[in-house]
Amino acid sequence: MKDIFKGKVVLVTGGTGSFGKKFISRLVDKHEPKKVIVFSRDEMKQYEMRKKFNHPCIRYLIGDVRDVERLHRAFHNVDIVVHAAAIKIVPTAEYNPFEAIKTNVIGAENVINMAIDNNIDRVLALSTDKAANPINLYGATKLCSEKMFLAANNYSPEGTIFSVVRYGNVVGSRGSVIPFFNECKAKGVVPITHEGMTRFWITLDQGVDFVVNSTNDMNGGEIFIPKLPSMKVTDLANAICPECKQEIVGIRPGEKLHETMVPADDGIYTYEYEERYVTYPDVICHERKIIPGGKKLELDFDGYRSDNNDQWLSVDELKKMAENA
Ligand SMILES: NC(=O)c1ccc[n+]([C@@H]2O[C@H](COP(=O)([O-])OP(=O)(O)OC[C@H]3O[C@@H](n4cnc5c(N)ncnc54)[C@H](OP(=O)(O)O)[C@@H]3O)[C@@H](O)[C@H]2O)c1
Repeated sequence: MKDIFKGKVVLVTGGTGSFGKKFISRLVDKHEPKKVIVFSRDEMKQYEMRKKFNHPCIRYLIGDVRDVERLHRAFHNVDIVVHAAAIKIVPTAEYNPFEAIKTNVIGAENVINMAIDNNIDRVLALSTDKAANPINLYGATKLCSEKMFLAANNYSPEGTIFSVVRYGNVVGSRGSVIPFFNECKAKGVVPITHEGMTRFWITLDQGVDFVVNSTNDMNGGEIFIPKLPSMKVTDLANAICPECKQEIVGIRPGEKLHETMVPADDGIYTYEYEERYVTYPDVICHERKIIPGGKKLELDFDGYRSDNNDQWLSVDELKKMAENA
């Protein structure tokens, strides 16, 4: 397979985050990029990252996706942008809606405009299952962002191509449930929102693989969705702290009982492949290119959700994943 990153200048917005660090270490170890640019705001996170990742091809740029001028400068001579910067914690976005919109929606618009103005070859944006039938502001901002990246292909029919990767909860990422359950061990009590709650589950390595492959395969306009296993939140609690009492505390504002990765209504635009779904844009002005090897979903498709999944993680598998996170 052609390696799209080889010899290229790659910029990662949010390059100091959980995804960014893993992705950049993969690029440098396996893909021989010409240069990798980390683009994020906090100098301390960059300082800490530089201590671990001091490869000569990595550049560290302080910048905010809300700042158009800075993006314009950073995108000069870049070939590929992977857009990972986001406000991503559900309660943070609920409580600070204007800030979430500025980063996740206006920031996405800035990335799109600067990519087109700088003739970037391809832009891949990271999204989340919370963007599918969203019920919280985080999901709603990521849905807006998805729509904007897909529509951006119409603004540059012969130039930059834009696609999206949408996946579920990342095992052990910053602010996720594993570090939280680990903290609960000392108290002997794990708060569980609802005993029936389910989630999709992906490791950082799987997420990075999927982004690498999707960036290779994209023609512009796709939402790439991996087929992932589901887990029961009570099984995760049993895997991390079996000795703890599970206390039911109720579903939090903005939380769903189950997550949706492909809504039933998007079935008509979606093809199923062996290891992924690909949703093609409903509104597009140029030729839609369907990646070969897929089967169009039937009209009676009921949605791809964490509760109707045919792959489930056992307590033992969850235990191993949590230990390696
Ligand atoms: N973690 C998950 O479970 C999960 C699941 C599905 C999808 N995703 C998506 O995957 C992406 C990466 O997630 P992650 O887990 O790596 O998040 P993360 O660990 O919180 O990292 C976020 C990164 O974005 C940067 N950032 C935040 N606001 C910024 C701004 N205004 N301008 C520039 N950089 C900014 C942060 O650095 P500074 O604070 O220094 O700027 C950090 O480098 C996000 O788009 C998220 O929505 C995550």
